Formats: sequence, structure tokens, C-alpha cells
Amino acid sequence: MTQAPRYFALIPAAGVGARMGATSPKQYLKIGGKPMLRHTLDAFLSSELIAHTFVVVSPDDPYIDAVAPNHGVTILRCGGASRMESVRNGLAVLASTLSRADWVLVHDAARPGLTAELIEKLITGTGDHPAGGLLALPVVDTVKRGIDGEAAGTVPRSGLWLAQTPQMFRYELLRDALAAATDPDSITDDASAVEALGLSPKLVEGHPRNLKVTLPDDIRIAEMYLAVSQPEFV
Ligand code: CTP
Ligand code: MG
Repeated sequence: MTQAPRYFALIPAAGVGARMGATSPKQYLKIGGKPMLRHTLDAFLSSELIAHTFVVVSPDDPYIDAVAPNHGVTILRCGGASRMESVRNGLAVLASTLSRADWVLVHDAARPGLTAELIEKLITGTGDHPAGGLLALPVVDTVKRGIDGEAAGTVPRSGLWLAQTPQMFRYELLRDALAAATDPDSITDDASAVEALGLSPKLVEGHPRNLKVTLPDDIRIAEMYLAVSQPEFV
């Protein structure tokens, strides 16, 4: 008898938020009165498909204990110098907890607009795809290649997608893909490490509400989406 698949969330939250330029790391800034990371954790806690949620923070993080809920989330104090290293370190700590075939959904702490519906859409849309899958948005704007501040050409947008998270892979595949990656700065998402192995993860259409909060103005946009009831946005 084959076992039902298990789905785990792994949330890298060990960044400093340099582009946000706030006094604390951006994942702890309040969005609609609640810390950004808590919105993100609550999305996974609200999904019945997720067996457990793990969050990776810096070893000396002074904020997480006040933000993480008492149940359903385990804090891993093993953040690294890059997102890729934080994910890799988290997976290493989970080696004896997860089995090779378990699915891991890696999700940026800085995407607080995620919903249980989007999580379910990703899991259903990815199914049993051998290369895993990710939420992404088809590019709708006209894309320019800029050289010295001038439009030097128009890149056909057909076939272009903007990657979001969660990105989900079997534990073994993700661990191996990240172990094989040599340049942490070029691996800005998990799918790119899997693609580097010659595999093609499934693209599942996400939603703009799942934006990555990066610059100061993004806080207002995230607040706008979070103020709207969730299901109609999926
Ligand atoms: N992240 C991480 N460990 C790092 C760097 C980033 O866990 N060493 C996490 C961030 O906390 C965030 C996610 O990876 O949840 C996406 O990264 P990004 O949006 O780039 O966040 P920061 O690196 O914190 O921001 P910046 O690049 O502006 O410094
Ligand atoms: Mg970063």
C-alpha cells in the first residue's frame, strides 16, 4: 500500500531586508497590525493539507519567539548568508524528520498574502510532477531590455512567467538540487536549482496578492490585499 503524501512548509526568514531599509528585518514589520511573518505562518496553519511548518531564522534572531504561534510551527535557528543557504541548512536539520518522498513547500517569509486556497491550488496543480512545481504569474506587461537607461529591444513576453513561492519538491530532490548548486547568489529561488539539474518544474498560476514585500511601498499594497476577504482573490 502506498502512503498518502505528506506536505511540509519550510519558510526562510533569515534575511535582513536591506532593500526595505527598516530598523528591523522586514519580516517583522507590521502589516495591518500583525507582523508580516505571522501572516505567512497563519496561511500554512490554516491549510489542512500541511502536516507541519518550519521557519528558518538567524541563530541570533531576537524577534521570532514573540511572533511564532505556540503550536504547529517549529523554529530552526540555522539561517545562512543567502536565501539558498538558509533553505539548505533547514533541510539538513530536517534530515531525520522528513523522508525522501515527503513534499517540502518552500515559501518566502516576505510573501504574507498567501492563502490556504493558493496552497491547495499549488499542491493540486503540481500533483505528482517529477520535477515539483511552483506558483508563478504570466508576464502581462511589455518587457524591455534596457542598456544604459535606454530601451534597446522588446523581449517577447510569450512564455515568460514571474516566479512566486511556495515552490514544492520532494525532499530528496530539493536537497540534492541545492547541494549541487555552487553559486548561492545566482540561486534566488528553489526551482532554479532544480532546473540546473535539467528538470522542468510545473508552473501553476498564482495571484498578485502573493507579492513579495521588498520595498517600503510594498507594505501598503500587501495591506490592501490582506484587507480583502481571501477566497474571491484566488
Ligand atoms: N532569506 C533568508 N536568508 C537569507 C536571505 C533571505 O532566509 N540569508 C529569506 C528572507 O527572509 C525572505 C526570503 O528569503 O523571506 C526572500 O528574500 P528577500 O525578499 O530577498 O529578503 P531579504 O534578503 O531579507 O531582503 P533584501 O534582499 O532586500 O536584503
Ligand atoms: Mg535578499
